[in-house]
Amino acid sequence: MRAHFALSVLSFSSLVSAAFRGIEGLKGHSTSNILPNTYIVELESAADVNSFGNGEKRSIFAAHDAFYRSLKRRDVDFDVRKEWSSDVLTAVSVSLNNLSEVMTMPGVLAVHPVRLYDMPRPAKVQALDDTIPVYTPHIPTGVQRVHEEGILGEGVKVAVIDTGIDYNHPVLGPQGFGPGHKVIGGYDLVGDAYTGRNTPVPDDDPMDCANHGTHVAGIIGANVGSNPYGIVGAAPSASLYAFRIFGCTGFTQDEVIIDALLLARDANVDVMNLSLGGASGWSSSPSSVVASRLAEKGIVMCIAAGNDGDVGAWYSSSPASGTDIITGGSTDNTVQYLQRAIVSTGYGPIYYNAFESIPLNGSWPIYATSNTTTEAADACEPLPDSTPDLSPYVVIIRRGGCTFVEKLDNAAAKGMKVALIYNNAPGLLAPSVGNYTAELISATDGAYLVQQFVAGTNLTLTFPQEPAQEVPNEAGGLMSDFSSYGPNYDMLLKPSVSAPGGGIVSSIPNAKYAVFSGTSMATPYLAGSAALVLQAHGISPDTGRKIRTLFETTAAFIGVTHNETAPYETLIKQGSGLVQVHSAIHYQTVVDRAEILLNDTAHFNQTHSIGFTNTGNATLQYTIGHTPAGTAITYDTSIALTFTGPVPLSEAPASVSFFQSTFSLDPGASAQITASFTPPAGLDPASFPVYSGWVTATASNGEILAIPYVGLAASVIDMKILDYSDFYFPFPTPVILNATGYVQIEPTNYTFADKDFPAFLWRQAAGSPRVTLDLVAADAVINTTYSKRDLTSGEYAGVPIIGTLLDYEYSSRSSADSETDFNLIPWNANVFLNKTKVPDGAYKVLLRALKITADPADEASYESYLSPVIGVANSTTST
Ligand SMILES: *[C@@H]1O[C@H](CO)[C@@H](O)[C@H](O)[C@H]1NC(C)=O
Ligand SMILES: *[C@@H]1O[C@H](CO)[C@@H](O)[C@H](O)[C@H]1NC(C)=O
Ligand SMILES: *[C@@H]1O[C@H](CO)[C@@H](O)[C@H](O)[C@H]1NC(C)=O
Ligand SMILES: *[C@@H]1O[C@H](CO)[C@@H](O)[C@H](O)[C@H]1NC(C)=O
Ligand SMILES: *[C@@H]1O[C@H](CO)[C@@H](O)[C@H](O)[C@H]1NC(C)=O
Ligand SMILES: *[C@@H]1O[C@H](CO)[C@@H](O)[C@H](O)[C@H]1NC(C)=O
Ligand SMILES: *[C@@H]1O[C@H](CO)[C@@H](O)[C@H](O)[C@H]1NC(C)=O
Ligand SMILES: *[C@@H]1O[C@H](CO)[C@@H](O)[C@H](O)[C@H]1NC(C)=O
Ligand SMILES: *[C@@H]1O[C@H](CO)[C@@H](O)[C@H](O)[C@H]1NC(C)=O
Ligand SMILES: *[C@@H]1O[C@H](CO)[C@@H](O)[C@H](O)[C@H]1NC(C)=O
Repeated sequence: MRAHFALSVLSFSSLVSAAFRGIEGLKGHSTSNILPNTYIVELESAADVNSFGNGEKRSIFAAHDAFYRSLKRRDVDFDVRKEWSSDVLTAVSVSLNNLSEVMTMPGVLAVHPVRLYDMPRPAKVQALDDTIPVYTPHIPTGVQRVHEEGILGEGVKVAVIDTGIDYNHPVLGPQGFGPGHKVIGGYDLVGDAYTGRNTPVPDDDPMDCANHGTHVAGIIGANVGSNPYGIVGAAPSASLYAFRIFGCTGFTQDEVIIDALLLARDANVDVMNLSLGGASGWSSSPSSVVASRLAEKGIVMCIAAGNDGDVGAWYSSSPASGTDIITGGSTDNTVQYLQRAIVSTGYGPIYYNAFESIPLNGSWPIYATSNTTTEAADACEPLPDSTPDLSPYVVIIRRGGCTFVEKLDNAAAKGMKVALIYNNAPGLLAPSVGNYTAELISATDGAYLVQQFVAGTNLTLTFPQEPAQEVPNEAGGLMSDFSSYGPNYDMLLKPSVSAPGGGIVSSIPNAKYAVFSGTSMATPYLAGSAALVLQAHGISPDTGRKIRTLFETTAAFIGVTHNETAPYETLIKQGSGLVQVHSAIHYQTVVDRAEILLNDTAHFNQTHSIGFTNTGNATLQYTIGHTPAGTAITYDTSIALTFTGPVPLSEAPASVSFFQSTFSLDPGASAQITASFTPPAGLDPASFPVYSGWVTATASNGEILAIPYVGLAASVIDMKILDYSDFYFPFPTPVILNATGYVQIEPTNYTFADKDFPAFLWRQAAGSPRVTLDLVAADAVINTTYSKRDLTSGEYAGVPIIGTLLDYEYSSRSSADSETDFNLIPWNANVFLNKTKVPDGAYKVLLRALKITADPADEASYESYLSPVIGVANSTTST
């Protein structure tokens, strides 16, 4: 199906001239979310550097000093932004222009760009204004039973690295900040005015001015009996630390996250929660590297998987993408909070998903924009002239074919003030309706209203102004639509495990409450759950290191639907399943590994051993089995681009054989079994099928241990990086846009004055470890252009590189959001990346993208595009 995209070149031009104000204004994922020319350089530790015994006095910053000396020797200009020296990180953050030079310097272990991370936005927000009894998330996760055993997280310290915490909230008592309070410590690393791009102004008070951190804190630690909504934290007796890394609005970035991680570590916390992240697909962002090292030290690291489920697979978020991290996916709460409309005919009531009632008094007649309930794109076009003034009606519209707001725009053009949109699928959701007053009702209720409208019944609706009702959610317990898909390009299993995150009531500042949805809500649920395990098994790094395995190997499988015949949801969406905290604490059998990573076909890791230990008092018999989940068909082969979410599933399973399928274990005894995997057959590798499932061990005492596995029935090196298609734009990409925003076809001269400069536009079908833009001679010919899709020849050698304009590592792929997610790089000053002036003359631009897992030294490892001729002429810009 072709994307809904009909921009003319002209309207595209206005889009791009808007972009000329600066790439900051665009949401483009790959390049606007990094700090330009800023890198975190990891260094060999001082001990290693100084092992030559030259008598130099050892300083903890010796490695840094040695690095600066080598930069100076090589004449590289640099500014030091930050230095770190700890057992988990020896690094420096520097601004510099010569990346290639640094990457090859001795003592340099890794060079990471500094990423920006978005303010954690809940997927949906509803303010709560009245009493809702009973707190539901604890039932399906077993947390209720653990609480009943008196395990409430006592003695465990959890750091909330977020927007701060309103430590005066009534659910977070003893209210106040510091020893003796629930929030026993913390720090504001950034100040209210921080945006991610300006200088942080730290202070001692991590008060929340953005709601998010306080909601997260309530999910972890809200006290029992503290509020009218029945909210109980997963670990209500745990102590919290608030490390604030966001201002009141805007972004944060890696340097700040790393500082917060190290401060929390110094505070000796047992668990850290980071409900934040940005699309990445790579496990190597500097904050995820540090988070992984803290996890190795036995601190339980819980990081959100992301809210990009609609974008499809290969879109895991960072820093959650690191190893040993508990990456939290989200399930929907088993209840939802609904308002109702009363129908004059006695039908109903009609429910809609909102906390607050539609603010309408009196009785309202209805008007349906279509007389049938099968219109695929109801109200997606301007309504006919025959449409009456819609202001006296509640307008009834069918969902589908275009966005809610587009429908409402069309209805509003005819005077609509309020609308009910009926679903074209099961369930209810809180629709994104911009500024309009509109809510979503069920397909069944919509069909009734339309039928009554056509029949001319004198039907009216009234909207009681009353508190929301808590009702069962049809989608409760299933994965939330918004929960992001992995895996990452390193073929790690992301997310790790899921918890309730869709439709969660918790605290917000100023003694208020709200329902938020997001993996931001699921992740603190896991952090609180980890606190329960720590208390039960003993608070120690040793317990900390085991928790990811305990969670993953005891989780409950989640189906695509509640229908028994439906396949299990792919593990790249659910992780190992819904966390089962009571089982994680009490199972007598423990497994020695969290997961089995099979990698792609080129690096297939076929055979794995799994160890089981019986920690109970009685001999147990075990039966080994295999439960496949749906195989995720991640690429649409008709367009060679990723499917958007929900990602289609095939039921073709992997097969697993065991050298031994039953065994028994005496108390205290351990055994290893060996599992050998075969990827599913008959699937097209070009669809990059990701298969997954669980190896199970069913014990005679009823325990079922499940070890998740994931693999790719294709080779990631075959993923096309550059999107050469015209699927998302009215022309094939990549292209150069000229000064008026049109695709440059003929050779064109640019002065680089008064907006007379080119911009490079491309999309990425997959992430890339490295993307570069270089200037080459105007007569350069490279045997690969965008018209040739199959790029294997290594013909760059013949073409000398004149200079580099852009060098970007670990980019994520573009999403299907064509209006915001592409790489658009204005080249607005006639200088190279290293700030030297580009001599006047004629050039072409060579775009190269390194394929995943390919050898960067091999020219054949890159896809490329060569631009038309760009003349740098009459330039006025000085260096
Ligand atoms: C909502 O209204 C405000 C103020 O009129 C306007 O600035 C904003 O753009 C509107 N947002 C949408 C999504 O229409
Ligand atoms: C839809 O039904 C209404 C009510 O019966 C009627 O007035 C109107 O003409 C119908 N519209 C169309 C397009 O059939
Ligand atoms: C429709 O209902 C309104 C208000 O209840 C009433 O005034 C009107 O007479 C009714 N019309 C018909 C056709 O029943
Ligand atoms: C898969 O193989 C690639 C290439 O060797 C490697 O970089 C990656 O770490 C591997 N992933 C796993 C989970 O082993
Ligand atoms: C479950 O799925 C099967 C097969 O798709 C279908 O026949 C059946 O009607 C479904 N049951 C329910 C309760 O939806
Ligand atoms: C294969 O998996 C095992 C764990 O089962 C791991 O120890 C080993 O390093 C993996 N091999 C490769 C090449 O990734
Ligand atoms: C093992 O036996 C001891 C002593 O009989 C008992 O206290 C303990 O609860 C038992 N543990 C389990 C896991 O059954
Ligand atoms: C940009 O390209 C368009 C279409 O080729 C052309 O009409 C226009 O004059 C060009 N603008 C500039 C400033 O070169
Ligand atoms: C660009 O500038 C060069 C040097 O001034 C000139 O020779 C050439 O004709 C110009 N090209 C175009 C397309 O204007
Ligand atoms: C491009 O490649 C083709 C086939 O690989 C070859 O025949 C042709 O000579 C090459 N062209 C150039 C300019 O190198």
